Amino acid sequence: MKIGKVLITEEEIQTELKEMGAQITKDYEGLDLLIVGVLKGAFMVMADLARYIELPVEFDFMAVSSYGSATQTSGVVRILKDLDAEIAGRHVLIVEDIIDSGLTLNYLLKALKVRNPASLEVASFLTKTGIQRVEINARYTAFEIGSEFVVGYGLDYAGLYRNLPYVGILEEDSAT
Ligand code: PRP
Repeated sequence: MKIGKVLITEEEIQTELKEMGAQITKDYEGLDLLIVGVLKGAFMVMADLARYIELPVEFDFMAVSSYGSATQTSGVVRILKDLDAEIAGRHVLIVEDIIDSGLTLNYLLKALKVRNPASLEVASFLTKTGIQRVEINARYTAFEIGSEFVVGYGLDYAGLYRNLPYVGILEEDSAT
């Protein structure tokens, strides 16, 4: 399949993430900040956003997989890789590539909250509007999009396209 349309350009992404990084720098000044990336999708936004945060900050990663069919998430998440760090008393910022139904983050937030972090917030690269099955109040969101299936900048289709520096929509009816 080919990219049919570029939805968010590389330049737009970098401009937005620079602004998000500046806001995070302001909001977390003087605090012990731990940024948690949710693999695999968040690897790209983590790498770029990190360079726009001008604070001493630690990074950790979680890997999760949702139970259910490819198109329908059940809301039950399996933790494939847990955090290396303890988060009690720390300011934790979860970075996600996309909030779709919201079920993954809803589960993760509950799982991390019981570990008693000083604060627990979300920074999402993309948020699909109007289709969340549970409401997620992300403190930071770079872009709001519609219900279209998007790839690139960490987001995949059948494991591919994550390395695109922009967000695109796949062309319908095109052969691989
Ligand atoms: C994607 C994305 C989120 C989740 C969002 O992960 O990274 O974690 O789906 O969907 P939700 O809001 O409907 O729960 P995916 O399971 O595709 O794994 P990946 O990051 O490894 O691609």
